[in-house]
Parts: sequence; structure tokens; C-alpha cells
Amino acid sequence: MPEVQDHFDNLEKISLEIADFPISNADELEKFRIRYLGTKNILKDLFSAIRDVAPESKKAYGQKLNEVKQQAETKFAEQQVLFTTDKKDGSKEIDRTLPVAPKNIGARHPITLIREELIGILSKIGYMVVDGPEIEDDRHNFTALAMPEDHPARDMQDTFYIQQDPAMVLRTHTSNVQIRVMESQQPPLRVMNLGRTYRNETITARAHCIFHQIELFYVDEGVTFADLKQTLLYLAQELFGEKTEIRLRPSYFPFTEPSAELDVSCFICYGAGCNICKHTGWVEIGGCGMIDPVVLENCNIDPEKYTGFAFGMGLERMAILKYRINDIRLFSENDIRFLKQFEHL
Ligand code: PHE
Repeated sequence: MPEVQDHFDNLEKISLEIADFPISNADELEKFRIRYLGTKNILKDLFSAIRDVAPESKKAYGQKLNEVKQQAETKFAEQQVLFTTDKKDGSKEIDRTLPVAPKNIGARHPITLIREELIGILSKIGYMVVDGPEIEDDRHNFTALAMPEDHPARDMQDTFYIQQDPAMVLRTHTSNVQIRVMESQQPPLRVMNLGRTYRNETITARAHCIFHQIELFYVDEGVTFADLKQTLLYLAQELFGEKTEIRLRPSYFPFTEPSAELDVSCFICYGAGCNICKHTGWVEIGGCGMIDPVVLENCNIDPEKYTGFAFGMGLERMAILKYRINDIRLFSENDIRFLKQFEHL
């Protein structure tokens, strides 16, 4: 009867043999299968030999044996994928030069979808996309927009400050771009900016400290509130359909005068009453107004000569309404199951 050590040595030998066994076609794959996994495979005797192994070594031996078996199974499975024979003629191997079927190519994020849609709609009427910094100084985010320190409107836009320099903030809205563009260029200006914005908000299903906005503004000679209204009507109808109506409700922003909130007629129930419009028939989508002459002056634009309007809107809110998303946290959780739902758009 062979010694226990011999059994162990044998296993070691077989393990090396498995690792080195050359498989480069279906025949060799079959040889491998018969030798290590077939009904009369060479591991069988070694399994029977467990009887002869001393009780204290049984466990170690059993483990090693299973490892070797596993090794053979794994190698077979890996190679099988490569050398499966074509069932019809029994010999053809898979063509490994064929391109791999595309797998999991992902889907565009709903914020990206909204962003692209808005850019498409607004570039048709001459708006140009500009970039703007997310880390902004106090002047561009607040002061030049007629929100000096201690202005009560700042309370609604608490944000994150940069520790080394408290005069730097994460921008609370995209309106900083109004200042950035107007102080470096003279009218006519027809500009949009879409990007990330931040506020010190507790994260809930309805609010987040990171979100996105679009800013739109037009400054030229003779721009009036009628231009604002017509632009917003065009935007609303492009976004929600031809039958959409708009309503402007008087509101307040420090940097526009007069100011208004933009409501659109409910595109879900068309006025019949639903949860989205809270049975009012109207859905609020953004803020707007005529740019305050003080803001133009702050940017060295002559308010006697030029007037302009501005409009701002949250992209998450737009996506929530359009795609009926019920939790704003989903946008930043990076869950592939969420994104998959937008594959067809
Ligand atoms: N910046 C404002 C906000 O975030 C929105 C706004 C933009 C209002 C442009 C008027 C004009 O609340």
C-alpha cells in the first residue's frame, strides 16, 4: 500500500500536469476532459485512496484533492469557451478574430439628456454655450449680482466655503456667468451656461447639496419683457409640447427687476388636476426677470443704452418632471440600474 506522502506527491504531480497540459484545439480539449474529468479520470483512484490515509491527514488530503479537481474544472471551462466545435460539421472552431459583441455600453445620464435637449432648443434661436467656474469668488456669485454681504437673499443660498480663503465659494447658481460674460464682453450677448451648482442643503428625496442649473441671458439695445416672455414660451413649447402655456408670477431676485417665477401648464394632466401640479394645473420651473441696471453697471455696461433679461432653471427638476423620477438622490448615486432605464432615450 502506498504511503500517504506518495499520495500527496502524486497530487502535486497531477496539479503541475494540469497546468502544463497543452490545449490548442478541440481534440486536445477532449483529451484533457477524458483524462481529468471523464468517467474513468485519473483522479478517481486518488479519491478512493482517501481510505488509506491516516485519520490526522485525511482533512488536508481531501482538501488538496478537491483543489486539484477544481483546477481541472476551471481550466476546462476556460478553454471550452475557446474550442467549442461547430455542431453541424463537428470540426470547425470558433473564429477568435471576430469582434466581440458590445457589452454593457451604458446609457446617457438623464441630466445629460436634458442638457443636450436644452442646448439644441436654445442654439436654434442664437444662444451660445459658455463655460463658467464652479469655484467662484464672492463678487461674481453674490456682490456683483446686487447681493452684498448681509443681504437677506444670501440666506436662501447658503453654500460651501473654501477653508484657506473664505472669499471663495462653490457657486450657488449659474448667475455668476452673467457677471463673468458681461464684464469681459459688450452686448449684444445671447448666452447660456449649463453646469453644476451647490448649496448647503440637507440631502433628502427632494433636495441635494449638488445640483445643476441652466442660465440664459440676452442683453442688447431695446430688449424688453416681451422678448423674455416670447423666449420662455418658445422654450416651454419645445420642451413640453406645442399646447403648453406659460404663466409669469411676480417674484423677487436681487439682480432682476421686475422678477418673476415661470410656471408652465401641467403637461401631465393638461389642467385636469394631478399630483405633479398639485391640482393647480401649473408647474413651476424657474426664475427670471429683467437684469437690474445696477448689475449692468457693475459690469461696465451702459444701462441707458442696453437692457437685458435672464432666466435660471434647475436641471434636476426638469428631469424629475419629464421622466417622473421620485428621488433627487438617484442622480448622484451612480447606480447602473437607474441609468439603464434611460437607455432608449
Ligand atoms: N439664480 C436664481 C436662483 O438660482 C435664478 C434666476 C436666474 C433668477 C436668472 C432670475 C434670473 O435662484
